[in-house]
Amino acid sequence: MQGKVVLVTGGAKRLGAATCRRLHARGANLVVHYRTSVENARTLQAELNQIRPGSVALVQADLFDTGLLPDLIDETMKHFGQLDALVNNASSFFPTPLGEITEKTWDNLIGSNLKAPLFLSQAAAPQLRKRHGCIVNIVDIHAEWPLKKYVVYNSAKGGLASLTRSLALDLAPEVRVNGISPGPILWPEQGEWTDETLQRRIIDKTPLKRAGDPDDIARTVLFLIAHAPYITGQIIAVDGGRSINL
Ligand SMILES: NC(=O)c1ccc[n+]([C@@H]2O[C@H](COP(=O)([O-])OP(=O)(O)OC[C@H]3O[C@@H](n4cnc5c(N)ncnc54)[C@H](OP(=O)(O)O)[C@@H]3O)[C@@H](O)[C@H]2O)c1
Repeated sequence: MQGKVVLVTGGAKRLGAATCRRLHARGANLVVHYRTSVENARTLQAELNQIRPGSVALVQADLFDTGLLPDLIDETMKHFGQLDALVNNASSFFPTPLGEITEKTWDNLIGSNLKAPLFLSQAAAPQLRKRHGCIVNIVDIHAEWPLKKYVVYNSAKGGLASLTRSLALDLAPEVRVNGISPGPILWPEQGEWTDETLQRRIIDKTPLKRAGDPDDIARTVLFLIAHAPYITGQIIAVDGGRSINL
């Protein structure tokens, strides 16, 4: 990763921040995108820049604003002069029971989980081609095995899985495109997922009998970027075996 530049969307906290720390520890320079988590983003930047001054830049953007997405790539080029990998990690996640789905909830979930990864990848493609770089999309096991009452989220991640394979075909041979489908790693901080009974039920159905660690995702991102030169168009489940026991 030494000398490589990676743009991570939604990188200020949780799985995104773990990914940033892991890639940075291996020598990458980072552009950390955030939307609202400015404090987390600045703290992460300070922590990592203390280790290697000037190695982390921040960009703020609402990914719903498709017209602004090329600016993220321009900012990356201004800071570091190259882009080697894009990690599409940012995501919104909430239930949409049938009968209550609105265009607003559709636009939100499809916007962050599918539309932004597509348009950001398109904007990044010329620079990634130059560097023989790659894209890693953070999908979800529920792209394939639907989560009840999450019709729109499931569909958005299903679209992202398909986008991963489509981009892999269209960007080959210069750029590899892969995905990671996390299972239960970090519980959402709000809503039904804070219920310990529900959490226990999910862990019981997870063959490895525990939640994952954000670094499980981070290490898989590192693998796909740095150690997988002959892998493209694939989606790796990192889920403690949850998807073989649904
Ligand atoms: N956590 C898990 O166990 C789990 C399980 C399955 C799949 N995943 C997937 O793994 C990835 C990371 O998970 P996570 O739980 O760490 O994610 P998260 O905390 O729910 O969200 C990551 C970031 O996405 C950003 N974001 C959301 N909507 C945005 C928008 N419209 N524009 C710009 N940024 C936006 C937010 O940035 P700000 O905070 O800066 O606003 C947020 O911090 C996601 O793609 C998620 O679907 C996670």
